Amino acid sequence: MIKDQIIKALSKTFGGQDFTLLTPKQDSFGDFAINIKQLQSIDPKINIKSVIDQLKKIDLFSSVEETREFINFWLSNKILLENLNQISKGDNIIKSSAGKGKKIIVEYSSPNIAKPFTIGHLRSTVIGDAIANLLEAVGYKVFRDNHVGDWGTQFGKQICALKKWGDETTIEKSDKPVKLLVDLYVKFHQEAEENPKLDGEAREWFRKLETGDSEARRIWERCVDWSWIEFDKIYKTLGVIFTENKGRGYEESYFEDKMKPVIDEIEQKKLLKENEGAKLVYFDKDEYPPLMILKKDDSTLYSTRDLATDKFRLEKYGPDIVIINEVGTEQSLYFQQLFKVEEMLGWFKKGQRIHIKHGMYRFKDQKMSTRSGNVIWLEDVLGEAEKRAAKISESQGRDVAKQVGIGAIKWNDLKKTSSQDVVFNWDDLLNMKGNSGPYLQYTYARTQSVISKALIKPKIDSCDFKLRKEEQMLIKELVRFQEIIELAATQYAPNVLCNYLYSLAKQFNLFYEKLPILKADEKTLHLRLAITIATGKILKRGLNILGIDAPNTI
Ligand code: ARG
Repeated sequence: MIKDQIIKALSKTFGGQDFTLLTPKQDSFGDFAINIKQLQSIDPKINIKSVIDQLKKIDLFSSVEETREFINFWLSNKILLENLNQISKGDNIIKSSAGKGKKIIVEYSSPNIAKPFTIGHLRSTVIGDAIANLLEAVGYKVFRDNHVGDWGTQFGKQICALKKWGDETTIEKSDKPVKLLVDLYVKFHQEAEENPKLDGEAREWFRKLETGDSEARRIWERCVDWSWIEFDKIYKTLGVIFTENKGRGYEESYFEDKMKPVIDEIEQKKLLKENEGAKLVYFDKDEYPPLMILKKDDSTLYSTRDLATDKFRLEKYGPDIVIINEVGTEQSLYFQQLFKVEEMLGWFKKGQRIHIKHGMYRFKDQKMSTRSGNVIWLEDVLGEAEKRAAKISESQGRDVAKQVGIGAIKWNDLKKTSSQDVVFNWDDLLNMKGNSGPYLQYTYARTQSVISKALIKPKIDSCDFKLRKEEQMLIKELVRFQEIIELAATQYAPNVLCNYLYSLAKQFNLFYEKLPILKADEKTLHLRLAITIATGKILKRGLNILGIDAPNTI
């Protein structure tokens, strides 16, 4: 694409040397630029004047200027139109090989069995899925994993509560089985405050579960099944899939028998220290608080299973595997500790472990938390989104309302750097005029409505157009699509793509409002139609990479 084209042409001028092509923030500094100091560091004897003379001869540029620090270039109409032509005609508008031959695990969602699928898990699902799509778009081999929390001492409490106060038939018949399980769990904690003996019973149930007692196992499996009814519904609504372990991901319990060898390895490498019966890893100069690997009753923890998970991944996918964990910012310290332990064990090289963190949702200034008791059920939020979207997408039916509602939620989650908190406000989410999912979908639908009325296939092969400002600005945005996709993918940052698409949509609407398309003279009609087709293609592909549908009408 355009950037590669320029790099290729330039490196001929510089005798094949490697240099960085910059993208200035303002149009007045060119479409692209090179740092003069960098050229001089490659070749101290370089004659900048003669370089510029040579660059002026390349027909990719309409002008080349030298400032004190940079050489700035502006793209010629010829190259802009050639690229526009390719995008409007071609099917494959991303031809990137940035990830060729590279393997990466993107682990996201990771809800817990018998617990609500929280808004935090929604963020992880949406952001993780978009990152996986981006990486796939630039050629990575992506493994989509889901680290479902289905193991740990809390299941002793869950089983104990279900045995004492629950009724399996009622849960079975309920359309909200997880809610009943959560109620039982809460009851356990209330009762245990009065009657501490219950904790002992719960421990005994967990011991039974670990040793394969059939009743403990049976109840636990039912909890898993009930939860998955809910998860499946949510993933279907969101259009999200996983590729590992038959589409469910490797859940925590999968690593039950894989922890022992890892604990042994940590012990052999002399990293495990005892403190009041528990076993922990301490860090050099107390960089982080110690990480507990075994409790004093010898039971394993979340961390033990994560270590076993990453060891398993190393063995299954090979030592070059890169692992992304999309998990909330509240687990930042934990992931630093985890990665440090793995570094001490010599399991990976720099850049192979990445914690992509997401901030919290705030509903009208209230912090969302499941512990505080004001649980927000995701199903309700998704249902409400569809209901509200139905009002704005008028008569297009339920499918479109769903696409708009879900698109609105996803866009809101993706448009900012993921580590930032997200304010949840229905009016902003569904605002057709603002930086929202529906605005993007609406702009796409606008392109399709123009195209369907045009009834011709545009031809712009001659390339001898004088471009209007609105046309030129828009084409300049269009030709950057691949560059943006690569940037967003390599930075694991869907918001980079959102920013681009939003600005593209604004630019298109400006073009649409200022210039006639279908009523233009024939030659101009071809140009403007090609621009409209290219915009539509990029908006659709971009939205799909973000996991958002682009209906033809809304
Ligand atoms: N189930 C966990 C939770 O809800 C998230 C798991 C994240 N992934 C991991 N490898 N620890 O908090």
